[in-house]
Amino acid sequence: MTTFYEAVGGEETFRRLVHRFYEGVAADPLLRPMYPEEDLAGAEDRLRMFLIQYWGGPNTYSQERGHPRLRMRHVPFTIGEAERDAWLKHMGDAVRSLELAPEHEEQLLRYLVYAAQSMLNA
Ligand code: HEM
Repeated sequence: MTTFYEAVGGEETFRRLVHRFYEGVAADPLLRPMYPEEDLAGAEDRLRMFLIQYWGGPNTYSQERGHPRLRMRHVPFTIGEAERDAWLKHMGDAVRSLELAPEHEEQLLRYLVYAAQSMLNA
């Protein structure tokens, strides 16, 4: 069975998605200060590995980081509606830049909206 990961173009697609997303974060005055590391490359690697695993690609994320427990991992960061909306804006721009088939784009966006909502902690 073809996974979503394979259907949208595999690692290359997720590399482009997450790279584009972090270009947005790097220029965002609300989000950029939340990232503890000066260099966003590590955060980019972690988010890319997570999304690849979630959508049916290699499970490198869990090999390197263990169980995702994403809500718990976000507790150190104050995520209110403004942070959620900024995160989703950059992610939405990044998803649309991929020019996926409409049903794939919709599926990806629906998941990301749901996941971002579940990360609210403030
Ligand atoms: C890590 C912010 C939503 C997945 C982080 C980090 C920050 C952050 C500041 C630490 C960066 C680092 O890894 O060094 C936010 C904000 C969100 C949000 C403001 C707004 C709602 C999400 C969503 C997902 C996600 C929706 C998944 C779909 C991840 C992953 C990591 C991470 C996988 C790395 C976890 C680890 O292995 O340590 N996030 N995040 N985030 N975020 Fe988010």
